[in-house]
Amino acid sequence: MLFLQGMRKLFTHIEQLHGIETSIASQKSGKEMNAVESLEKAWLLVEQGKIASWGSMQTPMPGADEEINLQGLEVLPGLVDSHTHTVFAEPRSGEWEMRLKGISYEAIAEAGGGILNSAAKLRSMDEELLYEQSLWRVQRMLEHGTTTLEIKSGYGLDTASELKMLRIARRIGNAVSATVKTTFLGAHAVPPEFKGNREAYVQHIISEMLPAVCEAGLADHMDVFCDRGFFTPEETLQLLEAGAEYGLPAKIHANELGITGGVQAAVKAGAWSADHLEHLGEAEIDCLRNSAVMPVGLPGTSYFLGIPYADGRRIIDAGLPFALASDFNPGSSPVCNLQMVWSLGCSQIKLLPSEGFNAITINAARSLRLENSTGSIAVGKQADFWTTETRNALQSVPYFFGINHAESVYIGGDKI
Ligand code: NIG
Ligand code: FE
Repeated sequence: MLFLQGMRKLFTHIEQLHGIETSIASQKSGKEMNAVESLEKAWLLVEQGKIASWGSMQTPMPGADEEINLQGLEVLPGLVDSHTHTVFAEPRSGEWEMRLKGISYEAIAEAGGGILNSAAKLRSMDEELLYEQSLWRVQRMLEHGTTTLEIKSGYGLDTASELKMLRIARRIGNAVSATVKTTFLGAHAVPPEFKGNREAYVQHIISEMLPAVCEAGLADHMDVFCDRGFFTPEETLQLLEAGAEYGLPAKIHANELGITGGVQAAVKAGAWSADHLEHLGEAEIDCLRNSAVMPVGLPGTSYFLGIPYADGRRIIDAGLPFALASDFNPGSSPVCNLQMVWSLGCSQIKLLPSEGFNAITINAARSLRLENSTGSIAVGKQADFWTTETRNALQSVPYFFGINHAESVYIGGDKI
C-alpha cells in the first residue's frame, strides 16, 4: 500500500481560504472583477496533486493519507505571471542611471542600448551560466507565490541565441514544479546585422528562426514588439500569421510607447493577450470589446520607466477583463514579485484589491489559456497555492507593499 501514501492530503485549520470557485468562470470581466469568494476556518483536500474538495472546519472532514495543520494561516491560489523576460544575461543598471539623469528609454534604444545591449551580452554568455542565473531568478519568483509563469525569448535575435534562450526556458520548466510556458519573441528588436533593413529581418524570422524554433518544439506562443521604432502592425500580422501556420498562438507587446495600432493587430491576429497598453484610446477599448484578447497591464514597467500606467480602471469600467503581469526584465521592469505588481495595480491603476487579485490569478491564467487548470481554488484544478500569516490577506497583501507575504508555497499539493 506504500504507493497510496500522500495521494490524499488534507490541509486543515485554514483561517481563510481565498479565491474559491464553485461555478467555474473562465475569466472575470467588468463588475465581476470585484468578486472573490473566501471561506473562513476551512480545510482543503488534495488528491493526486489536484484540488478535490474543501469545506468548513465545522463540517466533517474527509479521511486522508496525510494531514497538514496550517495553524491559522490564510491560503491564496498560486499567482500566474503571464509575461516575463526572465532569461537575460545581466542587469542594465548603467542604463538605469542614464535614465535617472534624464535620457529616455527610447533614446537609449535608438543609440544601440536597451534590448540590443541585452542581446550582445546574452549571445556571448555561456549557456550553463545563463541557465543557472535564470533558474535562480525563477526560484525567487516562486518564493513570492508565483506557481505558473511564461518566459519569452527576444534577447538572442539570431537563430542560435534564440534557441539557446528557449532551451533554457524549457530546462527551467523541467527543473521546477511550477508550470512554465515559453514564447518566441524573435521580433523584439532589429539586431545589428540587419540594421536599417527591418524587412529583411522580418523575412529572416519567418523563413529561418521560426521554423528552427518550432522544429525543436521550444515555443508555446509567439510574440512581437509592435510599437514605435520597433515593428509595425503590418509586420506584426505577417509574423504572427507565419507563427499561426506552425500552430503558435499570438501574444503582443502593444502600445507601450504610443498609440501605434498594436491593439488592433492583436484583435486581427486573434491573440490570446495584448500586453502593456500604457497608451490607449477609445478605439482600442472598442476594438477589445469585441474580442477574446485579454488586456494585460504591466505596472512594474510604468513604475520603473516613469511612463503612464495602463488604464485598467477604464478597461474594467468598460466591462472588459484585465490581467496584470510583472514583465520581469533587466531594462524596463526588474521586478519578479507579483505581490508588488498587485499593489502597484491598486495604488497606481486604482484597481480595488479584489480586482487586482483576479488580475494576477484567474485572468492571468486565461491570458495563457490555462484557466481550466489554475488561477483559482476549484475542484479539478492543480493544487497550487500559498500560505500567509498576514490577516485579511486580500486587502493586506497589496496594502503592506514591498515585503514578501508568502509563508510557504505549494505546487500540486507539495511544499516547494
Ligand atoms: O516588455 N517592450 C519590450 N520589451 C520589454 C523590455 C525589453 C528591455 O528593455 O529589455 C518590455 O518592457
Ligand atoms: Fe515585455
